[in-house]
Amino acid sequence: MRNVTNKLGQYFLLIILLGLLACTDEMVSVSKTTGFVKLDVYKNPSCECCGRWINYIDKNGFKGTVHHPVNLATVKQKYSIAPQYQSCHTAVTKEGYIFEGHVPADVMQRFMREKPVGALGLAVPGMPIGSPGMEMGDRTDDYDVLLLNKDGSSQVYERIRH
Ligand code: CU
Ligand code: CU
Repeated sequence: MRNVTNKLGQYFLLIILLGLLACTDEMVSVSKTTGFVKLDVYKNPSCECCGRWINYIDKNGFKGTVHHPVNLATVKQKYSIAPQYQSCHTAVTKEGYIFEGHVPADVMQRFMREKPVGALGLAVPGMPIGSPGMEMGDRTDDYDVLLLNKDGSSQVYERIRH
């Protein structure tokens, strides 16, 4: 009888252990799917396209925290974004990479995977029609996502063609 109880006890212990394993397994996969890149986004309070871009990136692997600095130009200066690369908003990762303007989320994800040596970040200068957050009916302009380098140079990182 005692032997049977022991066996039963071992059996339940095994069940509990397996349950725990399954739980941690599930927790790992959940944290993988909810793993997003946090961004500090600097914009003007009245900028509507900025708000649309933030809503869009929040659904595509990022989480934007909005900031409304008194002087946006100072922010762009601080992160060394030259005037020809500037747009309406500036997003900054925890590591200090910047995403200037209406950059598509999949291109930002590619950048976060590659983290090119000497990179400052990505920029979509101006506000091309049809870029994320800049939708206007059916109109979609072609534009380039630029890779900005810390030395001040830039190159095309991805061509967006429709
Ligand atoms: Cu904009
Ligand atoms: Cu904006």
